Amino acid sequence: MEKYVYIETFGCQMNDDDSERMLSFLKDDNFTLCSTPNEADLILLNTCSVREKAEHKVYSMLGRFRSLKEENPELIIGVTGCVAQQAGERLIERAPYLDMVIGTHNIHNLVKLLGKKEKGKKLRIVATELKEDITREEYRVSMPLASKVKATVSIMRGCDNYCTYCIVPYVRGPEMSRAAEDIIAEVKELTKSGVTEVTLLGQNVNSYKGGVGFTELLKLVCGVGELKRVRFVTSHPKDLSRELIELFNTEPKLCRQIHLPLQSGSNSVLQAMKRGYTVESYMEKVHALRSLYPSISLTTDIIVGFPGESEEDFRMTMDAIEDVGYDNIFSFVYSQRPGTVAAELEESLSDSEKKERLYELQKLQKEITASKQSALVGKIVEVLVEGESKASKQELSGRTECNKVVNFSLDDTGTFDKDNIVGSIIQLKITDAFTNSLRGELVWKEANVC
Ligand code: 5AD
Ligand code: SF4
Repeated sequence: MEKYVYIETFGCQMNDDDSERMLSFLKDDNFTLCSTPNEADLILLNTCSVREKAEHKVYSMLGRFRSLKEENPELIIGVTGCVAQQAGERLIERAPYLDMVIGTHNIHNLVKLLGKKEKGKKLRIVATELKEDITREEYRVSMPLASKVKATVSIMRGCDNYCTYCIVPYVRGPEMSRAAEDIIAEVKELTKSGVTEVTLLGQNVNSYKGGVGFTELLKLVCGVGELKRVRFVTSHPKDLSRELIELFNTEPKLCRQIHLPLQSGSNSVLQAMKRGYTVESYMEKVHALRSLYPSISLTTDIIVGFPGESEEDFRMTMDAIEDVGYDNIFSFVYSQRPGTVAAELEESLSDSEKKERLYELQKLQKEITASKQSALVGKIVEVLVEGESKASKQELSGRTECNKVVNFSLDDTGTFDKDNIVGSIIQLKITDAFTNSLRGELVWKEANVC
């Protein structure tokens, strides 16, 4: 009998990837994904706890599903992901209509745990043990939910860095790498279903150790014939090697784009965060990347208002953002996470002071992003076509090697068939630049590409 699962995913790409894996396991048990909770036999909230009030948000979200459970006692509701891992039993105590709490290392047990459901009875499962190893069964080919042509592939899980503000090592456990052969097998399977771009995922991909090192793994992935583009995220600046920097030169499939979280432009804050690099050593790596590939796209993460961050420290962060000229940044107000080392430090700023700093920093970045986007007008770029544009069904959308979204219309000559063009790389001339996207038109001649 066909059953329906509704999955809501919060947080990072790692969580999106976990949701895809959950669905692939659930398909073995005749589940199909549905788009509203009302149609579902199973509702899963895949949660994130990187920033504060995460648990609180889960309770308010669960509240929305309570009446559905009252109407249909056979409905199963589960919380998965980082909040599940962290809060465990407490979630069921506070929300007794919740059936399952599945931690980050138990996704592959989902179907087995669902099998324990007895008709007319509520399930009461808390599966939050962290494992010491990583097995082939836990990872499998999981088709992308949001795209037909690009997919993410987890190459490792957990983190051993213990940055002082971060909850991830506690909720995702120690760093463990999947075997390179399993990753390659997954990538090959994905390409058989039409995927032409993969993003390799890990909290710290540079410390991958799955029989080969990360640079070697990238070479192997790029060697998969049908694949057109390869990306990876996230690189820890302290572990970014010269070997990897140079690979951008020799591997045409490796997109010239890198996310390199700086977190702060002040050495004393970086030290208090236990990041393991200085602003100077970070900048050296940026210069090495830029001198080899001037057009490489750089993005970063910044935390403002870390305990003890002075006005001067904050100015140094603003300076660093200006010096690098990032294509984009993801910026956050520091949020105290219980159990982390930084949670013991006294907070030096009020919420409104932190928000003011965030506002100022985001304003600066908006200007930088806008000027980077405008500089592309008139340029010819290569775009991997992903599908219909979000804004209009009349338009298609794709991304440049630098991960910038470009929308365009097909010409009315009928030269391109909409379905055939999805998954191909085409050349577009940029005609307009907006904050989060570009518009382009088809070009026919070979030209220098950005
Ligand atoms: N407070 C604010 N931001 C955080 N991040 C991680 N932990 C915290 C925290 N406690 C941010 C970092 C990281 C990104 C994924 O989330 O910038 O790189
Ligand atoms: Fe968290 Fe630091 Fe690990 Fe990134 S490297 S997941 S910020 S502990």
